[in-house]
Amino acid sequence: MLDGKYGETMQNSMELLVALGDSYDAERMVSIGSAHLVSPNPISAGKGGTAFIKEIATKGGKFVVPTTTNPACLEPWSWREMGFSEELYLEQVALSQAIAEMGGFLCNTCIPYLIGHAPRMREHIAWGESSAVLYANAVCGARTNREGGPAALAAAIAGRTPLYGYHLDENRFGELEIVNRVDLKCDSDYATLGYFIGKIAQNRVPIITGIPTTISQDEMKCLGAPFAVTGSISHYHIVGVTPEAPTEGVASGKKRIRSFDIHEFGLKEFKETEESLCVIGPEEAELVVLGCPHASITQLKKYAATLSERKVKPTVEIWILTSDVIKNYAKSLGIADSIESTGARLVTNTCPPAMPRDFFKKKGYRRVATDSPKMVYYVSTTKDALCYYGKLENFIDIVTRKR
Ligand code: F3S
Repeated sequence: MLDGKYGETMQNSMELLVALGDSYDAERMVSIGSAHLVSPNPISAGKGGTAFIKEIATKGGKFVVPTTTNPACLEPWSWREMGFSEELYLEQVALSQAIAEMGGFLCNTCIPYLIGHAPRMREHIAWGESSAVLYANAVCGARTNREGGPAALAAAIAGRTPLYGYHLDENRFGELEIVNRVDLKCDSDYATLGYFIGKIAQNRVPIITGIPTTISQDEMKCLGAPFAVTGSISHYHIVGVTPEAPTEGVASGKKRIRSFDIHEFGLKEFKETEESLCVIGPEEAELVVLGCPHASITQLKKYAATLSERKVKPTVEIWILTSDVIKNYAKSLGIADSIESTGARLVTNTCPPAMPRDFFKKKGYRRVATDSPKMVYYVSTTKDALCYYGKLENFIDIVTRKR
């Protein structure tokens, strides 16, 4: 492959992977089961990245493993109505076509694992997108580093990735413990804990205790998503829940966690974390963004229940982000109609950080309310918006009225 026997794109991909492996002292390559591309859009990929992907497609590059895509920069069905430019739409279409020619599944979502692309335990994969990487490593027990755009693309073409980092047993053991003391009741409560953990753990794998074994898939999705915002962790263990943590001893690789590496998350930490994420009140919001990571079908059902018998006020917009697959499922169940009849919009294929930097400014979205700490981070850093953080139930009376 490296010698060019299988063509130029394969050779270039292997060159990149070998260089990456060398820089991490990887001893060899490992075969992967799937790849997830983190920048399949002209905003995140930039001009150079976009041209690079198109060039590989033109040269006949093909993905040899199932390869999914993260959110695009706009919703293809309603880009004009939402206010995106035709130029951007055409750029996105051209890039998406190039990825499709290479064999990519253009799902444009950060939750590929909920729409038929869940990896299996111990499967080596090459995924980008921090929240998906957390879910794949921690909840599925698969093995991936957080791949950047070029590395995931090269791995998809070569079907290989260098064996280092989270692909190795020794880097997957827990190194500190977070003891939860709060009665966490909903997805946002778990997201608040996740934001706190990211700050404390930084780049060390946390072992979380005090979590009920009844924790749901959605709650784990929301727990992991903010880790990479406040820290750079790509794995975690919940004792008695996640597959590599039947006991604390197994999760830590039989090492004893030192007492100064044990941190409590009580009501004080919970409140402080929530407050640190709010710089405005919900009554100031011009836009509400829900569904980060992209909403599952059960989350859409909950949003529909909270919004039922209500109408979105004309002074505000509500977006609920999800994947097309899940929106179509929600349509078949009547959930999508129920949500849209309130005036809220189901936005698919995209998410705010993937949109142009000046898009919010042009639309007049300067203040945003959201139930996701990860969205607080990205909307304030990439869209210069001020944020309120809290669960929808906390501010439903402010952004909607009774019908
Ligand atoms: Fe997904 Fe965008 Fe949030 S990629 S995790 S909806 S910031």
